[in-house]
Parts: sequence; structure tokens; C-alpha cells
Amino acid sequence: MKTNSKNILLTGGTGYIGSHTAVELLNAGYHVTIFDNLSNSKIEVLSRIEIITGAMPEFEQIDLRDEAELSKGFDKYSFDAVIHFAGLKSVGESVTNPLDTYENNLLSTIYLLKVMRKKAVLNLIFSGSATVYAIPETLPIKENNVLGADCPYGRSKLMIEEILTDLSVSDPEWKIQILRYFNPVGAHPTGLIGEDPSGIPSNLFPYLSRVAQGVYKELKIFGSDYKTSDGTCIRDYIHVVDLAKGHLSTLSRLDHSSGMEIFNLGTGHGYSVLEVVKAYEKASGIKIPYIFTERRKGDIPISYADPTKAEHLLGWKAEKTIDDMCKDAWNWQTKNPNGYIKKKKE
Ligand code: NAD
Ligand code: UD1
Repeated sequence: MKTNSKNILLTGGTGYIGSHTAVELLNAGYHVTIFDNLSNSKIEVLSRIEIITGAMPEFEQIDLRDEAELSKGFDKYSFDAVIHFAGLKSVGESVTNPLDTYENNLLSTIYLLKVMRKKAVLNLIFSGSATVYAIPETLPIKENNVLGADCPYGRSKLMIEEILTDLSVSDPEWKIQILRYFNPVGAHPTGLIGEDPSGIPSNLFPYLSRVAQGVYKELKIFGSDYKTSDGTCIRDYIHVVDLAKGHLSTLSRLDHSSGMEIFNLGTGHGYSVLEVVKAYEKASGIKIPYIFTERRKGDIPISYADPTKAEHLLGWKAEKTIDDMCKDAWNWQTKNPNGYIKKKKE
């Protein structure tokens, strides 16, 4: 195995994107430490990461909103950089309970930044989201497109971006990279780690997987009258392993950059909901029943990235196709029909 003496802290590292990033970092020889409160992930993830990579990340069950515990966590290790994944990401829950989302996402970030400053760890990669862009007037979406989120979750991401901007202005020693993810989907090709949402999934891929599995009888496609080729919304789906690799490239960039930078991480290609359904049918060999329903509030018709800034400055480009995304999502679903929870033996 390659070695790299750097120790990277992943907050929220047992979650969907963090676990895939942990795998890529460990495979590249980094030391990985995870701080997570397990509010939306399972401890089982750690042993899966170990099976894939042959290395077990360090783990501390810490809630980032507990500044004292966080500070103690930092005392135990010496970090070269932090990748900050931890946060609440459900758009629906952020609308019904905005205070929880603001409290979790903002306080976690503020305490993390305070502790990082105290311990002189000033290299940060932040999990941003394409949800911070206003309805695009021009496509593809570039990093300097107009911003404007329309739900509390999106606004919490925008507020954090503003906090990070102010911080980097206040002290040029900080090196901050904001990554705006488009639509991360799929799973590790081993089928050992993947997306494991609790309750009824609100995002397309996990819902589609459960329809294919027979848990739900049909997919409800939200809207068929958008001004797109087939009337359904278009998104830039990106394989989670490509996304994870983007963090590896960004870590290398941190060594040679200064101040704050922002990058779109997407493929640059948009697929409609119906195109995704067709691709999933091909990957799974299962016919997906679907019906058209009302548009979902807050959905924008078309969103896809201009990823060329990341290509030029990070030397990163997404490689996997929509067929890979569907194949790996289905592989994860069939190998883990109940997510990380193993069914008790009868
Ligand atoms: P996830 O929910 O799977 O992972 C987030 C992790 O953070 C979970 O393991 C959770 O237990 C942990 N966590 C939450 N609050 C915490 C706290 N206060 N202290 C410690 N740990 C805490 O989500 P994900 O899909 O892996 O997303 C990771 C990041 O990327 C999030 O910030 C999310 O907003 C952002 N993002 C995700 C998507 C997506 O589609 N998945 C898209 C754009 C941006
Ligand atoms: C959603 C969030 C976004 C968040 C992202 C990743 C909204 C409005 N946006 O993005 O803030 O960053 O997830 O977590 O919630 N679809 C269906 N039927 C379904 C599910 C989805 O037709 O059962 C359609 C949607 O209308 C959309 C596409 O599939 O056109 C993708 O949906 P989804 O996976 O939820 O992602 P986004 O809406 O792009």
C-alpha cells in the first residue's frame, strides 16, 4: 500500500459521501480520522471501509456542536487538513423544522472553525451544494452564476459559504476550498458501502432502487411538462466515487493554493428523470413502473455543471457514466436490501 504521512480529519465521515472519500484517501495512503455523531450513519461503515482498503480509519463519536469534546478530539491527533461533510441534508426536514437544520449546520461549522483556529489547523475543504445556485439564466452553471437558495437547507449552505468568505478575508493563513456537489449517486463498485437513507427516500436514486427491489410499487415522476426534451427535469448526476476522488485532487490543490476557492463537482452532462429510469432498467434488468404526478415545489427544470474550473485547476474530471451509476446503485441495493442493518437470522 502507498503511504502518505498526512492525517486528514473527515467530519461526517461515516456518511454517504464521507465513507467513499475515506476509501479513496486510505487507498492513496493517507491516514484518515473520522468524527461523526452517527445521527445519520452506522458504525458498521467502518468495518466495510476496512474490508475495501485493508485499513481502519480512526473514529471518534463526537457531535461537532459540543465544542469541548471537539477540542479534546483535536488534542488526540495532529491533522493536516479537515474535510467537513457533517451536516443535515434533508431539504424536506429543513422546511418543516428549519431551526434543527440551521442549528446543526451553522453551529457545527462555527465550532469546528474555532477549534481549527485554536489548534492552528487552517486547511479546510467544505461540502457545498449546487443547491446554492439561483434558477440558472445560463447553462451550464459556472461557479460565478447568480446565487440564491430557496429552502433552509440551501440557505444554511449559503450562510456557511459567507462565513468562510469572511474568515478567509480576516486571516490569509486559512486555505479553504468549497466544493459544490451536483447530484451524487451510485455506490462503491464492491457493493460494500453506499447510500442508506432512513425512512422513505426523497431523492430519485434511492427511491428508484426501492422500486426496482419491489419495496414501492412505482416511481412518482414529479412533473412531465417542463421545457425539456421529454418534459421531465434534468440533473447532473455524478458517481459518488468520482466525487470522492475530487476531494483527493482538492487536497493536493490545498498545498499550492492560498485564500478561498470554489469548484463545481459535476460531470457537465444532464440527464432527464425518464433517461435515468431507462438507464436503471438497463442496469438492473427490471422494468420500473412509474406514474407522472404534480411538480415538486422548489424543483428547477434544468441543472448541470460547468466542471471545467475543476478540470483545469484540480486536474480532476468525472469518468463514470450514467450506466456505471445505475449498475453500482443496483449492486449496493441487492447486496444490502436493508442498508447497513443485517437482517436477524430466523
Ligand atoms: P450523510 O447524512 O450521509 O452524511 C453526513 C454525516 O454527518 C452523517 O454521518 C451524520 O451522522 C453526520 N453528522 C450530522 N450532523 C453532525 C454533527 N452535528 N456532528 C457530527 N456528525 C454529524 O450526507 P452525505 O450525503 O454524505 O453529505 C455529506 C455532505 O455533503 C453534507 O454536508 C451535505 O449537505 C453535502 N451535500 C450532499 C449532497 C447529496 O446529494 N448527498 C449534495 C450536495 C451536498
Ligand atoms: C435535491 C434537493 C437539493 C439537494 C439534492 C441532494 C430539492 C428541491 N432539492 O436535489 O437541494 O442538494 O437533492 O440531496 O429537494 N424525482 C422524481 N421522483 C422522486 C424523486 C425525485 O421525479 O421520487 C425527480 C425530481 O423532481 C428531480 C430529480 O428526480 O427532478 C432528482 O431529484 P433528487 O434526487 O431529489 O435531487 P434534486 O431535486 O436535484
